[in-house]
Amino acid sequence: MNSKQTTYTTFSYDAHARTCAPDDFLRQTRRTVHGVPMTEEQLHMIMAAISKGLELRSEDVLLELACGNGFLSVQLFDGCHSYLGTDISDYLISVAKKHFERQPNHRFEVIGGVQYVNQEPHPERFTRALCYAGFQYFSDSDILHVLTVLFQRFTKLERIFLGNLPDRAHLTDFFIHSIPTDDELSDPCTALGIWRTREAFKKLAETAGWLVEFSIMPYEFYAAHYRYDVTLTRQG
Ligand SMILES: C[S@@+](CC[C@H](N)C(=O)[O-])C[C@H]1O[C@@H](n2cnc3c(N)ncnc32)[C@H](O)[C@@H]1O
Repeated sequence: MNSKQTTYTTFSYDAHARTCAPDDFLRQTRRTVHGVPMTEEQLHMIMAAISKGLELRSEDVLLELACGNGFLSVQLFDGCHSYLGTDISDYLISVAKKHFERQPNHRFEVIGGVQYVNQEPHPERFTRALCYAGFQYFSDSDILHVLTVLFQRFTKLERIFLGNLPDRAHLTDFFIHSIPTDDELSDPCTALGIWRTREAFKKLAETAGWLVEFSIMPYEFYAAHYRYDVTLTRQG
């Protein structure tokens, strides 16, 4: 039995999303700024960063991990040949299926990231992968596992874009009054997930075999000062 007591609050996207209106897509995935749904302008900046990182082509087969309710994902459908979005939340995937799924080529599935990469029967079909505001909810060992399997089994995967990761080197740009404990900052089950430095993230991704490139959002993006994005490519 795990008897470790936490002095902070943990968070479930599934439970949170169920408290929101069924069509309040932005609140369900906490795409809010000071409690207010993000503006079109901020959403455009996110989609521009994803498009730039992925370099999506019409023939691409896109995999998304931690896709949430598919509200962002659907905007990528016309830019690729086919798409599979996966997420651990039953409820968010039910919303994605109801509002955004386009069978047979653009589909969603309820499954955790680690379980999914282990059991995908045709991994060689994917050419691009995305995880936006999701990898902070994976432990170090899960990230290492997922990225290693993506490198080894998903042999045609050329680019992975991982967005919106909280930067441990910029804690004081976000936490104005007091900084949470190391335990809290390293717990994937908190609302903000794990805060990692770029160096820590780079080490994980390089160990899995990937070349790593960091980028940040334009200055006008509300979280540009404490988050970073990562693009992974194959060597050579
Ligand atoms: C902030 S939301 C991001 C959703 C979507 N990518 C977006 O940007 O709108 C984080 C998502 O990560 C999912 N998630 C957390 N842990 C996961 C895991 N181990 N495997 C798959 N999805 C996970 C949650 O269910 C939630 O949908």
